[in-house]
Amino acid sequence: MKTDARANPVSCDNAKAIELHELALRQYQSYVGDAIATLDLALAEQPDFVLAHAVKAGILMTFGEARFRNIAAESVTEAQKLLSRANDREKGLVAAAERLVSGAWDKGCALYDEVLVDYPRDIFAAQTAHLVDFLRGDAQNLRNRVSRILPHWSPSVPGYSYLLGMYAFGLEECNQYAEAEATALRALTLEPKDGWAVHAAVHVYEMSGRVEEGIHFLASRERDWAPHNALAFHNWWHLALFQFDRGQYGQVLDLYDRVIYPDPALDLSMTMVDATTLLWRLQMAGVDVGSRFQTIARVWEQKLDSERGFYAFNDLHALIAFVATGREAPMARLMDDINQAASAVTLNGMMSREVSRPLARGFAAFGQGRYIEAAQEIVAARDGAWRFGGSHAQRDIINLTLIEAALRSKQNNLARHYIAERTAARPASALGWRLHGRAIELAPK
Ligand SMILES: [Fe+2]
Repeated sequence: MKTDARANPVSCDNAKAIELHELALRQYQSYVGDAIATLDLALAEQPDFVLAHAVKAGILMTFGEARFRNIAAESVTEAQKLLSRANDREKGLVAAAERLVSGAWDKGCALYDEVLVDYPRDIFAAQTAHLVDFLRGDAQNLRNRVSRILPHWSPSVPGYSYLLGMYAFGLEECNQYAEAEATALRALTLEPKDGWAVHAAVHVYEMSGRVEEGIHFLASRERDWAPHNALAFHNWWHLALFQFDRGQYGQVLDLYDRVIYPDPALDLSMTMVDATTLLWRLQMAGVDVGSRFQTIARVWEQKLDSERGFYAFNDLHALIAFVATGREAPMARLMDDINQAASAVTLNGMMSREVSRPLARGFAAFGQGRYIEAAQEIVAARDGAWRFGGSHAQRDIINLTLIEAALRSKQNNLARHYIAERTAARPASALGWRLHGRAIELAPK
């Protein structure tokens, strides 16, 4: 029986195809290289390689976009035709991918976990569930899904450092900052180029307001995490958040133009999400962002036909771009789509109903200058906003918009209420104290 590099059974006998599958997993873990293209090479080598079909489907689903779901569905169909030759692990991976493709992302993660019970060194199952945990905002499983399999790993198992990087991020999302930082640094000692471990450490600095350390950490390691890394845009975004905190808006715009959203041909939603909230932050701070918002709003609009109603988190960010640029027609259309999605008895239906719809109303009210209403809508939704996914740092745009709405509607007490929460966690954040300064200048109510 053939196995992969972590001794997991593989039903395929073709050594070249297995080698390509292994390369694809390394690319998936490291964010360097095109794992999907490599899997296509493996499938060209061995068209009935059921594992490669299942892995391709799972990776495509981690992008959180309908257009990739459609390709993933084809891979699941191919894999299902080959189930008679699949081993138990592969059958489990196909079943999990089928649930992801059908929209039951939570069930898909549960099925990957079933695979991990018997094959705790299945790094593909672990990473795919981890990334879908991220899409679902499931902080507990971002940490615990890794801790359940960690005893089966050691530095001698290929890819161990990447598992530590995932664990570090899960610890961070569970607010265990000291453990998260130590784990991320340990992962980086083993593999300095691990963009996800870099990212986990950066989140610690972001969430605890260690702005100067965050800038130094990223700047001093740039040659490790930035070149040729598909996650680099997001770590650059984190650097931009640190610079935004310090009020260095020119540098934020420079990063935006050079490395975060340099080209409107970039239409990956996860990149556009970060670019959109960065512009929204700048605009709230009174910075002239030029035509940048119009450019990205146009790209969001072009994606509406294929993506609307697929993933509530992305829908809200598209709507933010429409609000910021006063694009009434696509905004109304997307509101209708979110309403329609909210009536579905699906995971995305819950996300749309409980999170995106009230937040969309809040951001729309903000854009139209109805700040009291904006604050009310956002307050009502924000405590459960983790349910539509993303990280704490990404969802901070909700808090910042709430605080800005309170300030603009001269609701002094409300503004200070939420600023206090932010400054308690980030005592050295200049942004927090700038907001605090504006709040205390308002006459008390
Ligand atoms: Fe992040």
